Amino acid sequence: MELKLSINGKTYSISVDPTDTLLHILREKVSLTGTKNGCNQGHCGACTVVVNGKAVKSCITKARKLENADVITIEGISSNFNLHAIQEAFIEATAVQCGFCTPGYIMELFALFSTSPNANIEEIHKSLEKHLCRCTGYQPIVDAALLAQEKIKNA
Ligand code: FES
Ligand code: FES
Repeated sequence: MELKLSINGKTYSISVDPTDTLLHILREKVSLTGTKNGCNQGHCGACTVVVNGKAVKSCITKARKLENADVITIEGISSNFNLHAIQEAFIEATAVQCGFCTPGYIMELFALFSTSPNANIEEIHKSLEKHLCRCTGYQPIVDAALLAQEKIKNA
């Protein structure tokens, strides 16, 4: 099938199999490798991107559901060489170690704070619980989320 969709504000028309995953399309068809393949089974959250305003696991999102979708990946949230506030917060809170899980967390929070800038701590925890990190012990990630929320509110 020929799939038309927008990725980071750019329109693409891509030849895909209907069962191809969004993760495969991003990494293999349009060379956006910031989105990571952790488990490829919907368990770890590393592949999270934003589709039509919602955080989704791209490894279990099939091409046939993406006609005219609006996709935002980690490559699409910074402008020129300026990092997004959530990216800055992850660096400042030392929430990045190997970094493999980081794009997924950041896109999850991007979706959350876009729709709920005043999300409370329970809502933040609920979003972060969908993700696995093997390195940080999680507290720095919670700290980063709270710092990001403050930065976005004060921007
Ligand atoms: S790679 Fe998609 S959830 Fe793990
Ligand atoms: S920073 Fe290594 S998996 Fe999270």
